[in-house]
Amino acid sequence: MSSLANTGTKKGFSINDFNTRKKEHVPISMVTCYDFVFAKIVEETDIDIILVGDSLGNVIAGYENTIPVTVEQMIYHTEIVHRGAPSKFLVIDMPFMSYHVSVEDSLRNAGTMIKKSGAHAVKLEGGVEFYDVVKALVRASIPVMGHLGLTPQSVHKLGGYTVQGREEDKRRKLIDDAKSLVDAGACSLVLEKVPESLAKEISEAITIPTIGIGAGVHCDGQVLVLHDMLGLDAGFSPKFLKKYANLHEITKNALNDYSREVRDKQYPGKEHSYA
Ligand code: KIV
Repeated sequence: MSSLANTGTKKGFSINDFNTRKKEHVPISMVTCYDFVFAKIVEETDIDIILVGDSLGNVIAGYENTIPVTVEQMIYHTEIVHRGAPSKFLVIDMPFMSYHVSVEDSLRNAGTMIKKSGAHAVKLEGGVEFYDVVKALVRASIPVMGHLGLTPQSVHKLGGYTVQGREEDKRRKLIDDAKSLVDAGACSLVLEKVPESLAKEISEAITIPTIGIGAGVHCDGQVLVLHDMLGLDAGFSPKFLKKYANLHEITKNALNDYSREVRDKQYPGKEHSYA
């Protein structure tokens, strides 16, 4: 068996815990991760789930949105994260247009992503429209996490990154979407940037856990983008985001200290030099 073999997590979170956590009201913690150094740190923590999100398009690649992200890029980053955090339950995002063409194409893409990356589940954006896709993936033993509300791959359709589900018809549609994902066999559901009351209604109406980002306290779990919650991007401060550290400031100060010490010939010192 290769070191990338997906044996499930020996300790920590496993697929069965989605149900257990919902029943026992123990919130699920999820964070994104895209590289080896951070994966090794997350591996040492109590975080339940790592999501290799297609937000890597923004965070790592500097694209304007997640639309250009490819299946190959997702596999590359997820395989790296799996090496750094082998015990964590790992979810890989299906990128834009990798599950939109046909059920057969979606199966092939998801199958390749699971086989090559070491992930335990895929995540995809959308509801009722993707019922057949989700059902086929689940039938092929590929666990699926849904994603509703603000779905960044639909940014051109939505016209921006605003809160979703404020109007009554959109609210109803999101509830129907959530129920459809449950019927299709999804194991859990990300709710992004929806009113707290809607997230509460959905969370109470369905049997699988909701994992919120900008969706309030009533979700069955929470997810944040790692780089955002560590405060690496000084210019990104949406209302829902809590910055648990200020790594932008810390990193900038460290770099300036280093630069100054090089200029002043303080670094390297005797203790950093070989005899
Ligand atoms: O791609 C991503 O990071 C996500 C989370 C924001 C849920 O989908």
